[in-house]
Amino acid sequence: MSHYVFEHLLQEEHRMIRDAAREFAEQEIAPVAAKYDAEETFPLETVRKMGEMGFMGIEVPEEYGGAGLDTLAYVLALEEISKVDAAHGTIMSVNNSLFNHAIMTFGTEEQKRKYVTAVASGQAIGAYALTEPSSGSDAANMRTRAVREGDVYVINGRKSWITSGPVADYVIVFAMTDPEKRHRGITAFIVEADWPGFIRGKQEEKMGIRASATSELSFENLRVPVENRLGEEGQGFKIAMAVLDAGRIGIAAQALGIAEGAYAYSRRYVTERVAFGKPIGEFQGTGFKIADMKTRIEAARGLVYNAALAKERARQTGERYTLAASMAKLFASETAVFCTWAAVQIHGGMGYSRELPIERFYRDAKITEIYEGTSEIQRLVITRLETGLRLL
Ligand code: CAA
Repeated sequence: MSHYVFEHLLQEEHRMIRDAAREFAEQEIAPVAAKYDAEETFPLETVRKMGEMGFMGIEVPEEYGGAGLDTLAYVLALEEISKVDAAHGTIMSVNNSLFNHAIMTFGTEEQKRKYVTAVASGQAIGAYALTEPSSGSDAANMRTRAVREGDVYVINGRKSWITSGPVADYVIVFAMTDPEKRHRGITAFIVEADWPGFIRGKQEEKMGIRASATSELSFENLRVPVENRLGEEGQGFKIAMAVLDAGRIGIAAQALGIAEGAYAYSRRYVTERVAFGKPIGEFQGTGFKIADMKTRIEAARGLVYNAALAKERARQTGERYTLAASMAKLFASETAVFCTWAAVQIHGGMGYSRELPIERFYRDAKITEIYEGTSEIQRLVITRLETGLRLL
């Protein structure tokens, strides 16, 4: 039996999007995933098709080019895509739960029409630029500056590790407008990549999610019209944090998918592969790995779907779902790392070989413990919320 109580939570539309994503991943992504990984090229063709399928704007209302579904639908679809290829999952996650979510929550009507419609339909690619070379976990400590000159802001600075940086059409950029106010002096902007002064740095060479392109971005006297400010001056850090709450649910769903992908191979292999005259699953050291993988996956599923429901409820109540999002991200990412490690170990030489996707799953899983807030940052957030203590 699979999915237990959660299966009963699903409505027809959830099952439909889950099935559509599963079929798409198996038919369109599985045949090309290893090639894109090996060549470290961005899978533009499948990304465009994902847009046509509605996967790039699952929670965006149909009038803005999206599928008009809820957060549970989003995590179910992202989980299916990530079971087959986490790199496609990363691209999907940034477009949906960072870019679109930021503008749908904090943007003006014009911003939604122009930017969300393009990204949700897969015509354009979005990115989210918070991290800098000298500020990762300490996100508020940024150096990028935006200075208002009449009807424009002039932005100078550098952002690093930007997912989809090499290919993005539109980027949400966080910059200091009032450095003395520290995190309360940060403002968010929507920037177009073809504006003068927008410079893409070299593409990073990564351990995993190699088909997802990552780079530095620099801004040299980049002039951004006032109407492209996202939210109010000084509201940027809260926007960054609130949007990351949504983003972390996406990464949690991605991690859950990676873990399940690795598990599916492992469950089959322990019954088929024979050593010392019996299936390797009959050796406790191997069989118990199956028990641990399955149990952690179902526990992660509980946290991920719970966070999706908490975010959905927040639409009505306005309350924060930070705790649910951080717990889901923390546990699901550690589950992905555990399950992919166990899968390589169970498969032995075959797990280490590029003939199977298992070594790719193992390399891909690691990033989920790092981006959109490391496991240490998630623990910090959870402890602070639970105790009220100012843990650092
Ligand atoms: N929602 C709304 N507001 C929030 C919030 C949230 N989840 N979390 C914090 N805030 C508010 C606080 O209430 C506080 O408000 P006041 O100004 O009214 O006091 C303000 O933000 C500052 O909060 P903190 O004092 O907690 O800030 P801090 O400096 O101690 O930092 C942190 C907190 C949790 C460490 C934060 O810096 C953090 O999350 N760091 C990790 C950054 C991160 O996740 N980076 C990922 C980069 S993006 C990425 O990876 C995308 C990609 O390409 C895939």
